[in-house]
Amino acid sequence: MWQPPERIKHELPAPSWPTADQAAHARLFQPIQLGPRTAKTRTWVPAMVPWRATEDGFVTPDVIDWYRRFAEGRPGVLVVEATGIRDIPSGPLLRIGHDRFVEGLAKLTAAVREASGGETLLFIQLIDFLQIRRRPPRDKYFGRFLAITDRHREALHHIDPEAQLDSEETVRARLAALPDAELPYVLTARELEDLERGYRERVTDTHLPHIAELPKVLPPLFADAAGRARAAGFDGVELHFAHAYTMASFLSALNTRDDGYGGKRPHRVRLPLEVIGAVRARVSPDLVVGCRYLGDDVVEGGNRIEDAAWFGVELAKAGLDFLSISKGGKFEDAKQPKVGWSAYPYTGRSGYECMPTIYSDEKGPFARNVSLSGQIRAAVRGAGLATPVVGAGGICEFAQAESVLDRGEADLVASARQSLADPDWFLKIREGRGGEIRRCEFTNYCEALDQQHKQVTCKLWDREALDAPDVTLSSDGKRRLVAPKWRT
Ligand SMILES: Cc1cc2nc3c(=O)[nH]c(=O)nc-3n(C[C@H](O)[C@H](O)[C@H](O)COP(=O)(O)O)c2cc1C
Ligand code: SF4
Repeated sequence: MWQPPERIKHELPAPSWPTADQAAHARLFQPIQLGPRTAKTRTWVPAMVPWRATEDGFVTPDVIDWYRRFAEGRPGVLVVEATGIRDIPSGPLLRIGHDRFVEGLAKLTAAVREASGGETLLFIQLIDFLQIRRRPPRDKYFGRFLAITDRHREALHHIDPEAQLDSEETVRARLAALPDAELPYVLTARELEDLERGYRERVTDTHLPHIAELPKVLPPLFADAAGRARAAGFDGVELHFAHAYTMASFLSALNTRDDGYGGKRPHRVRLPLEVIGAVRARVSPDLVVGCRYLGDDVVEGGNRIEDAAWFGVELAKAGLDFLSISKGGKFEDAKQPKVGWSAYPYTGRSGYECMPTIYSDEKGPFARNVSLSGQIRAAVRGAGLATPVVGAGGICEFAQAESVLDRGEADLVASARQSLADPDWFLKIREGRGGEIRRCEFTNYCEALDQQHKQVTCKLWDREALDAPDVTLSSDGKRRLVAPKWRT
């Protein structure tokens, strides 16, 4: 992952754990209304993909164990990982694109309800993503993948007027023999990118019929998925409008579609609003309907906070029950993958901003992104709307979380990695036992596992008591899959 060149190593925020009585009066543990449901506290475990589903996208016992373990810590809200709304193969990522997925998801909601004593609201994050392929070997790219055009023939002819280019095979062979330095003269920028990073669809590829049709196809797909979430017993859905995926790409200033769904802000927000309309028509007022989106795209030419604040007002006006704010996590600045690997959107600067580590710049990783949720919240309040806003990014300590709420930077505090390091951490604070918290070190071992599509665990507990009864191990047999119990 990219890291700020300053590489300043930051210490964890000094602990300030309250007594149980102080905690009972803290803002963090006051209830808050989220549309039709009440969150019992303002604590939130945001979506984290653990790579535990079957290759066909079904819930497994390991998926259930993962969420049960978070539910034991009784957060106000727990969000299930990004779950695909289409019925297409997508590796071991959860799916909700067909009714056959409902049975497994219903087992998951039942397990969470039981483990949290009904205290935790359970939402599921609904995602759509476009096609991405692995970086091809050079010979395969020129031998098979590249579509040969007259432009290639002309460019080759320009380099060598004597060249015989009668058959497609000769053109392919000639291209393959070119030194890398000459490729930019022969290939388009996009073809070069396909070779160097792997093919990746964009929402602006409107020459492809299935991309042109996204505005027609996506609202009913999201609505059907939300209907299945209700059937499976979820309390709400979080529409994934963040990071590197389809909906965030519609919102982005990089979206130049000219069909009324790109360009100016009102056009970029049009599809998200249509998705919200379709989802609400299907499941409101039964389910909480909110979204996660970016307070800043980070990448060049992408959205900045001014765009995000404007979108926040529009999304709130559309009746969303919460806005959860993230940052970055884009493909545009991702590192070049190795041959045979896919680009991963959390390897560049925007990825760092999404999941900052202790090796940082002056600002450091802790509560790094709450100025974004604060500014969005201010814009929403300025428009006369009370929509709750969720802030995230390096939140791992009581006084820190409490001051985010005090300063009005968020209405709920989301904590991903600290909750992975210690799923009981919110509960321990509530019980006045903060001194027992296993504190996240923010060095992103978990994120590196995610990047390799390996089962995600935390380095602070995954080698502990491996031979204890009922411990499930990772597929390499070396790590336990869920945190040890706090109270046995
Ligand atoms: C292993 C891992 C998987 C993640 N998966 C998702 C995801 O599915 N959807 C999402 O919106 N964010 C995802 N995130 C980002 C987190 O929700 C969160 O925004 C980010 O880690 C910053 O919060 P933190 O500093 O509290 O960890 C993931 C983070 C990690 C570490
Ligand atoms: S692996 Fe590291 S960054 Fe991830 S949750 Fe554990 S301590 Fe935190």
